[in-house]
Amino acid sequence: MAAPEKLYPRTGDNQTIYLKNVISNPNIEIGDYTMYNDFVNAPAAFEKNNVLYHYPINGDHLNIGKFCSIACGAKFLFNSANHKMDSLSTYPFPLFFEEWGLDRKDVADSWDNKGDITVGNDVWIGYEAVILAGVTVGDGAIIGARAVVTKDVPPYAIVGGVPAKLIKKRFSEETIASLLEIQWWNWSKEKIAENIAAIKSGSLEHLK
Ligand SMILES: CC(C)(COP(=O)(O)OP(=O)(O)OC[C@H]1O[C@@H](n2cnc3c(N)ncnc32)[C@H](O)[C@@H]1OP(=O)(O)O)[C@@H](O)C(=O)NCCC(=O)NCCS
Repeated sequence: MAAPEKLYPRTGDNQTIYLKNVISNPNIEIGDYTMYNDFVNAPAAFEKNNVLYHYPINGDHLNIGKFCSIACGAKFLFNSANHKMDSLSTYPFPLFFEEWGLDRKDVADSWDNKGDITVGNDVWIGYEAVILAGVTVGDGAIIGARAVVTKDVPPYAIVGGVPAKLIKKRFSEETIASLLEIQWWNWSKEKIAENIAAIKSGSLEHLK
């Protein structure tokens, strides 16, 4: 599928962008058509304002699939935020290696590395939601406004709250299985365009 090259999907709306087109960090990957809206800060500053504590030394990745909708102020909190907890102190001594005569190369010992953040396709992330390191969000999930997501979210689940808990599933297990098999987000642009009415109306039979 040819990715859109333009930055703004909507003429006259400079608050909504195709996120992929502003990413320069090689540890961040964003799928085609995934969009971000920000009415507080410049949406193009997503890497700086929304992907936090994400330092190259950890080698941790943010992977977001296609056709996701990311609301203003959603944040991805990476591993340098996780002060080490199996130590007798959470104070990050290795970070201040000069002060304490420690080796610069051990700086990442200051924090626990819980891994990457992976978000599937067609995920809607609500206003000011926070997703923590190590979390995987399945295809079609919805993250409620201001949720703090600490655990994996199954496909097509709706979660909310602090910590985020399952509110409900969007569809029956049978329908979810069909959608995961169909993976409409991997179709060509032409095929998606032909099927928008069916996608919008929830006509699974038509998609099959
Ligand atoms: C999560 C969400 C999608 C659920 O919508 P819904 O299915 O219509 O939910 P309902 O209003 O029927 O609420 C269902 C339950 O979830 C709870 N709930 C809803 N949203 C919640 C949230 N963000 N955090 C915590 N709990 C939430 C409700 O209190 C209710 O609880 P109850 O069953 O104990 O009474 C919606 O509430 C939400 O947060 N949307 C995000 C909006 C947003 O941020 N948009 C940004 C612009 S794109």
